[in-house]
Amino acid sequence: MQTESRTIRTLGILGAGRLGTVLTRLAVSAGYRVVVAASGDSAHIAPAMKAIGAIAASAATVAAEADAVILALPLARYRTLDAEALRGMLVIDAMNYWWGSDGVRDDLSDPRTSTSELVQQHLTGARVVKALSHMGYQDLEDETRPQGAAERKAIAVAGDDPADVAVVCALVDDLGFDPVVAGPLSAGIMLEPGAEAFGADVDATELREMLARFPTSQRGIVVARARGEASS
Ligand SMILES: NC(=O)c1ccc[n+]([C@@H]2O[C@H](COP(=O)([O-])OP(=O)(O)OC[C@H]3O[C@@H](n4cnc5c(N)ncnc54)[C@H](OP(=O)(O)O)[C@@H]3O)[C@@H](O)[C@H]2O)c1
Repeated sequence: MQTESRTIRTLGILGAGRLGTVLTRLAVSAGYRVVVAASGDSAHIAPAMKAIGAIAASAATVAAEADAVILALPLARYRTLDAEALRGMLVIDAMNYWWGSDGVRDDLSDPRTSTSELVQQHLTGARVVKALSHMGYQDLEDETRPQGAAERKAIAVAGDDPADVAVVCALVDDLGFDPVVAGPLSAGIMLEPGAEAFGADVDATELREMLARFPTSQRGIVVARARGEASS
């Protein structure tokens, strides 16, 4: 289901693992041209991408050809991203801190800063929006539904620029989910591990309720204190 407001025609995806592959499938089904890179030689993922209907490429080609790029690589590797190549781009951060694969990293679980803000600090010239991060890849694959379908699930979107957030919401809708705006990039912390919405596979009403409960949750109180905000 493509919307009139869509401005992304070629979607780039950095990461061709569990999440990147499912997002590639959903985007190809929605009619996007999808260009995907993993960390190594694109020839390694070319057969799998071709079978889906996507194009395997280098990260540099993804950045050069895409109208927007989804980050679907391990968060611990975000500093390996080429900030110059992504300058000026809309970058959709779908990454989470997962200690099992990322190792113990205090910087990636600091309640003062959402991990998407760290990614934004690294990608100085890009416009980072957090989305497509809280639902497990199998649920993303199973739960995609056309607009207006009963029991359609929701995906939260957090970003500082309303125009970018609108573009990402249109993408989420195209991929088969109801977008729910969570707030600015700092609010992305409400979608991270430790928050109720992490792992959420629920509809828009329930997702909004989860986000509304965040300030009174244990994690929400820790975050508010660390940020010097009055906790509810
Ligand atoms: N799995 C989920 O259900 C899920 C859901 C939501 C969000 N996420 C988040 O999405 C991210 C990826 O998770 P995953 O489960 O898909 O991991 P994964 O299966 O381990 O795949 C990671 C992918 O990232 C690639 N990669 C590593 N460094 C890269 C770089 N510098 N540039 C481009 N690609 C790079 C890897 O390529 P190589 O194999 O060539 O190294 C691999 O294709 C994580 O941050 C995770 O928290 C995961």
